[in-house]
Amino acid sequence: MPQRKLFVTTALPYANGKFHIGHIMEYIQADIWVRHQRMQGSMVHFVGADDAHGAPIMIAAEKAGKTPEQFVAEIAAGRKQYLDGFHIRFDNWHSTHSPENTQLAQEIYRHLKASGLITSRTIEQFYDPVKGMFLPDRYIKGECPTCHAKDQYGDSCEVCSSVYSPTQLIEPYSTLTGARPELRTSEHYFFQLSRPEVVEFLKAWTQDGKLQSEVAKKAGEWFEAGMADWDISRDAPYFGIEVPDAPGKYFYVWLDAPIGYLASLKNHFDKGQAKNHWHPASRTDASFEQYVADPAVEQVHFIGKDIVYFHTLFWPAMLKFSDRKTPDQVNVHGFITVSGEKMSKSRGTGIDPLKYLSLGMNPEWLRYYIAAKLNSRVEDVDFNPDDFVARVNADLIGKYVNIASRAVKFVPGGKLVAGDASALNHAGLVATVKELYETREFGKALREVMAFADQVNTRFDTAAPWKLLKEGKGEEAARVCSECLEAFKVMTACLKPVLPELALEAEKFLNCGTLDWDNAVKALGAGHQVGEYKHLMQRVDMKQVDALFEPPAEAGAGAPPPQPAPSGGASGQPPGGEEIAPEITIDDFTKVDLRIAKIVNCESVEGAKKLLRLTLDIGEGKTRNVFAGIASAYKPEELVGKLTVMVANLAPRKMKFGVSEGMVLAASNADDKAGGIYVLNPWPGAEPGMRVR
Ligand code: 2FM
Ligand code: ZN
Repeated sequence: MPQRKLFVTTALPYANGKFHIGHIMEYIQADIWVRHQRMQGSMVHFVGADDAHGAPIMIAAEKAGKTPEQFVAEIAAGRKQYLDGFHIRFDNWHSTHSPENTQLAQEIYRHLKASGLITSRTIEQFYDPVKGMFLPDRYIKGECPTCHAKDQYGDSCEVCSSVYSPTQLIEPYSTLTGARPELRTSEHYFFQLSRPEVVEFLKAWTQDGKLQSEVAKKAGEWFEAGMADWDISRDAPYFGIEVPDAPGKYFYVWLDAPIGYLASLKNHFDKGQAKNHWHPASRTDASFEQYVADPAVEQVHFIGKDIVYFHTLFWPAMLKFSDRKTPDQVNVHGFITVSGEKMSKSRGTGIDPLKYLSLGMNPEWLRYYIAAKLNSRVEDVDFNPDDFVARVNADLIGKYVNIASRAVKFVPGGKLVAGDASALNHAGLVATVKELYETREFGKALREVMAFADQVNTRFDTAAPWKLLKEGKGEEAARVCSECLEAFKVMTACLKPVLPELALEAEKFLNCGTLDWDNAVKALGAGHQVGEYKHLMQRVDMKQVDALFEPPAEAGAGAPPPQPAPSGGASGQPPGGEEIAPEITIDDFTKVDLRIAKIVNCESVEGAKKLLRLTLDIGEGKTRNVFAGIASAYKPEELVGKLTVMVANLAPRKMKFGVSEGMVLAASNADDKAGGIYVLNPWPGAEPGMRVR
């Protein structure tokens, strides 16, 4: 098969909130598929961006006292820690609020207009006279015309589920100002999707077999209901891209959002990243324009089931009728539920991705678990805490990781000996798993690997190398265990798209270079020297999972907000901004006597802006006086009564303001003290005087 050329995207998240677990799930799904593609030498350009425009973002920015530009830039700055944290490797992350997107959106619009597919009509819409703007339906509430429930949204009633237009609401009001909205007229621009040539194209495009069957079926229902023209303009004030030659008119956010896929790709190409791609097979001298026009390039989108309409009707029609290539795949996934319940941001029952990381939970556990639950259909994925622990501990670690540590012990010097290469079907496994990744049947792929792992473990247990060794049959033990290590290598390749960091560590141990689908089945061979085994992955501790679901503690008045732990690792930065200190022994550590201390009093220190004077009780029958440089982060009254950790055997130090009889522990980033100082606080149950070890 000739080298494939792929342009892959995930849905562009609105730049008005942090990532939630649903975003992370989608990115993990796409990232796994992309990594699989890279393993077979495909040229891949995998991009994302923030979806920055629209009324909700404009209003949220205003509420936050920021310009929309500032607001979306701050959201964008927070993305990296999630992506690095979960080993999601986009080639580029851009924004729909960008010169590239403005240019492309206006170009596409002009093209559609020249093709005679844009029309304008005067419409009537609610207007907030206090705010001075037309109101999107979601900002209008009133009494349901059907069941008379109060405070229902402008488009449908949550009580009786009836659907209506905002003008039918009884006693409507603007949720922005409470004012009674007025009906006003305005000229809007429409993309004429109802035109026969457009409908005909879309029918063929959605029904030619490229879409998942349930998605094609849904599209069929939409055609039956009839295609309406699409209102693509909004009136100022609006945060968006100006409609050319139409002063005061902006593109509706959903027009420029998918064009953001192209804008991010263009930005990636224009920066020279495609030419000098980190992945050699993805390097190309083509320009952005050449690349997107290349018939060999497959355009692949990963999206959630809530935005199918936009991606299977509006988006292909926009591309087709502006003479561009249309998508080759629109891969739709379901939502993520937690223990069967749809997550709700307001109730906070979801999984907070940054909390997950800050608890020290391994991102690859989540990648593994999500992959194990994913298939190629539009099904919801349920995160079940017990199932999560069981799959990671029993399958991933119990079956795969442990093979390496068990087997390597019986291979003297780590030098492999010749084994029976036909004992296990390596090539068969790789061929099957590769095909399952290709078709996004990740759960099935992992089940294949685990079934193979069962065979390897059975072979190991049946041979019982520890017994063989006792019986003086060390060579036989080495032979079986060499086979197990060969099998471990094959499994590592098969898990690599899902577990990239673990695979990297395993490759180091195996001393096998970079695994891909070609070399996965090539035996390491007799005489191959594996490296030293270091434990590859910790088991999940149920306590971590419990902590993940614990509701956030009430933040005390003025307490600094909880900060996510810096993720480090993939970003190449040392953790916390400094390298880990040289190794010490346990004896070195026990020299430091750490105790739980109660802060019985705390006051500022006159003449020392940075210091607080703490009075600490560690149960000695007397208190200690300790100065701490934490005044920038805490007010004295926030600390009084709290528990913390102190070094109790530090030599007393005479300072300008008195003697300091110890030290309290606090966390901060070496590079960035401005990032905050966080005094340690033990879990509930710890008592003053307890030793920390
Ligand atoms: O639903 C959403 O979150 C949208 N921001 C998705 C946009 S996808 C693409 F069209 F940009
Ligand atoms: Zn109702």
